[in-house]
Amino acid sequence: MTDGLAESTSGARADGTSDAPAIACSDLSKRYGDESVLESVSFEVPDGEFVALIGRSGSGKSTLLDVISGIEQPDDGRVTFPAADGDATVGHVFQDPRLLPWETCLQNVEYVHGDDPDYDDDVGRRYLDLVGLGDQYDQYPTQLSGGQRQRVGLARALSVDPDVLLMDEPFSNVDEITADELREDLLDLWRDFEPTVVFVTHDVTEAVRMADRILMLGDGDLFGDVDVPLDRPRSIDSVEFVRFREQVREQFREQG
Ligand SMILES: Nc1ncnc2c1ncn2[C@@H]1O[C@H](COP(=O)(O)OP(=O)(O)OP(=O)(O)O)[C@@H](O)[C@H]1O
Ligand SMILES: [Mg+2]
Repeated sequence: MTDGLAESTSGARADGTSDAPAIACSDLSKRYGDESVLESVSFEVPDGEFVALIGRSGSGKSTLLDVISGIEQPDDGRVTFPAADGDATVGHVFQDPRLLPWETCLQNVEYVHGDDPDYDDDVGRRYLDLVGLGDQYDQYPTQLSGGQRQRVGLARALSVDPDVLLMDEPFSNVDEITADELREDLLDLWRDFEPTVVFVTHDVTEAVRMADRILMLGDGDLFGDVDVPLDRPRSIDSVEFVRFREQVREQFREQG
């Protein structure tokens, strides 16, 4: 969870709603020692949009998510959450689920709520139910499969009722069949809860299947930003899908 910096919602519409972006990254730079990972990265994500972030291994995808969620501070630039008046609740699904091994599933969800008086175990159970872990509240992470652990990470991130949901290759360690189920579950949850999603993957098919828009990261900056021109639900075998995926792959091959 992160509180963003205050930012005015300059995008107010006449009907009182706002078209201010959910996430605004401006001129983000991040170095680790001598290595420059992000170099003046700028982009905005409209409220409720599902964005996929793709890039080669080591291109800085996880670093960018960590900077957005506030786990890492940028060396330059800033991240704001204008649509939530700067006060966005951010859920972060980590590349490795980072569960506490000595805590049960339910306790792992509870953990991120700290001393929040509004949290009780019913909240945790509700989200574990939602991700299909209704029978496993009291299991420890070592008693779960990789896919089940990923689901606990997802339940934990969703349980904060995020305005912004950051997901770092959440299904990469899961078998294809389970990953397919999780993808569909995620799209259902996105439709129901309407968070703004930034979904990191290096699987171009997964990006095209899930996202409204694809950002491509490489050499410290975004080299591609394309809208996905496909209706939902999407069939990954359709001619349109395959054609668009090849366009993305080509851009990725040439510039990434
Ligand atoms: N805490 C850290 N300390 C030092 N260097 C780091 C740290 N975190 C990341 N890096 C370096 O920053 C670069 C980008 O790492 P990052 O994890 O963001 O890449 P990534 O795109 O997520 O890769 P992958 O697809 O393999 O997950 C790498 O060269 C990595 O070694
Ligand atoms: Mg990563």
